[in-house]
Amino acid sequence: MENEVVMKIRGLTKKYGDVVGIKDLDLDVYKGEIMGFLGPNGAGKTTTIRTCLGLLQKTSGDVKIFGLDSHEDSIEIRKRTGYLPGDFGMYPDLKVKSILRYLLSQSGVSDESKMKGLAERLELDLSRKYGNLSKGNKQKVGLVQAFMADQDLIIMDEPTSGLDPLMQQKCYELLREEKEKGKTIFMSSHILAEVEEVCDRVAIIRNAELQVVEEIESLKEKMGKKLEIEFENSVDPSIFAMEGVEDFEMDGRKATMIVTSNLDEVIKKISKQNVINMSLETFSLEQLFLTYYSGGGKG
Ligand SMILES: Nc1ncnc2c1ncn2[C@@H]1O[C@H](COP(=O)(O)OP(=O)(O)OP(=O)(O)O)[C@@H](O)[C@H]1O
Ligand SMILES: [Mg+2]
Repeated sequence: MENEVVMKIRGLTKKYGDVVGIKDLDLDVYKGEIMGFLGPNGAGKTTTIRTCLGLLQKTSGDVKIFGLDSHEDSIEIRKRTGYLPGDFGMYPDLKVKSILRYLLSQSGVSDESKMKGLAERLELDLSRKYGNLSKGNKQKVGLVQAFMADQDLIIMDEPTSGLDPLMQQKCYELLREEKEKGKTIFMSSHILAEVEEVCDRVAIIRNAELQVVEEIESLKEKMGKKLEIEFENSVDPSIFAMEGVEDFEMDGRKATMIVTSNLDEVIKKISKQNVINMSLETFSLEQLFLTYYSGGGKG
């Protein structure tokens, strides 16, 4: 089945004078997926998001959201998109409830049940003044407003910024539930573990340029696993000379290796020996993400 593209970004470039915010970005976000958008500070994530939503004027390139032009049809796109800006802020003197009611009406929605349900789940007190809220609680207001109008596309710039670990988990739950309902989510993040936990695919940018777009699962598969075995007797290392085994090392009766494929063959070789101890560890994606951050992951 052909994936339906909700966000289609082609050759997107945004310059701020001499400073390049994002350069020649091509990216598709598919219907029903959660796409994570990663990259070091200043890489161009916020620039990309704001340009796609028509909040910033692009320098060149083409962005279609729901098949609509990001610039010409920016108002229509924003009606159909829940958006949490990275610098979410509201009038300090207003009560949270008034703010959310106002924003909901702007989206043309009168049913407040989702809004109230979200506030309850995030333990957000609607009766308080926005300006008196803590940083994390302000972020919750931003989350509620992004989810409450039940739009088909949700774009979030660092959704869990300022949230405590429990609330981060609740945010992941909400994101997964929206995905289950067929919503599309595009979110930037600095929390690598969060991207690994909630996203289907990840796009990593660095210095305004795309480094990689990949499914989380296939990144994991490519990374291989670290295998450690302690044998009862010394073994001939050459039995592990096969495709899919890398970085083999033998230290006394202990062997370590990275297995990228052929795990079954490796296990069969091992099973012919007497094994005292064994561990198989999947690399954390964080390690891989960081290689892209530092420019080492390309190719
Ligand atoms: N209004 C602006 N005027 C000039 N340069 C800007 C402006 N906004 C962003 N930039 C520059 O564009 C580049 C990309 O910034 P952007 O905010 O998109 O990065 P980011 O990936 O969102 O970073 P962070 O992780 O810190 O949020 C940076 O070099 C930044 O300094
Ligand atoms: Mg940013």
